[in-house]
Amino acid sequence: MASIGAASHVGLASAYEKEGWCEPPYRFSDAAVALLRERALAISGERRPEVVHEKGSGIVRAIHGCHAFDEVCAALVRHPYLVELAEQLVGGPVYVYQFKVNLKQAHEGAAWPWHQDFAFWHEEDGMPRPDAVNIAVSLDDVHEDNGPLMAIPGSHRLGLLDLPEGRADGEESDWHSHVSADLAYTVNADRARALAEQSGHKLFTGPQGSIQVFHPSIVHSSSNNVSADRRALLLITYNAVANAPKCPSRPAFLVSRDTTAVEPRADARLDLQALPDPAVSL
Ligand code: SIN
Ligand code: MN
Repeated sequence: MASIGAASHVGLASAYEKEGWCEPPYRFSDAAVALLRERALAISGERRPEVVHEKGSGIVRAIHGCHAFDEVCAALVRHPYLVELAEQLVGGPVYVYQFKVNLKQAHEGAAWPWHQDFAFWHEEDGMPRPDAVNIAVSLDDVHEDNGPLMAIPGSHRLGLLDLPEGRADGEESDWHSHVSADLAYTVNADRARALAEQSGHKLFTGPQGSIQVFHPSIVHSSSNNVSADRRALLLITYNAVANAPKCPSRPAFLVSRDTTAVEPRADARLDLQALPDPAVSL
């Protein structure tokens, strides 16, 4: 599809600023999703450090940094619509900070406790400000029972919550606790419950190919997959070039070292389709 243009991002940008999330009116075509899913599943079968397993099992939980070694994932991060949207939301040129696919396998995929992504990026990598954005693409249909992402609207404006005390300067935690179900930086469950009672929660359900965008500081979680349906979710984090951490130490598949601005390039295999306009649907 032709470039959609910055003007069309204005409504999304104001929703994003207010709520901490927004949903573009497009989804990736079934053919594009099939291609991305095929790559994700092939990579998940490889023996490489970027492939992370569920605790104590051989089940693949996630694959990381695939844009650096897989041609289809590399094409996706350059998608003009995604790059232009990210640039508008962070206010300048962006590079890919993180790329991952959380596979959340049927029956086995474990939860992500309540957390804020910026806690990890600030505390572990030294990212100065939350001038980054997560763009999620569903590679499977997502419904209430296969562990959808859940976010608390407006919570991105609260700053970092419940950071652990007493870490010595420069002390690092084991990066495995940044990608497992036992996360190093969590938001207290009672606090999250109280926030959700106050502000409600947004459940990111929808058909495969759906795109959802959320802020690095929004409080979010997802539950165990208690269904027979896998819930593979691809997540790209774009960071403002001006906001790159100075000397991150975590592995490059969690924190890209290449901070050059992404140049958008269209790829006909990764096409978007407009969603039906809710205002005109019967
Ligand atoms: C999930 O895949 O459900 C969690 C993703 C995230 O916390 O970024
Ligand atoms: Mn997260």
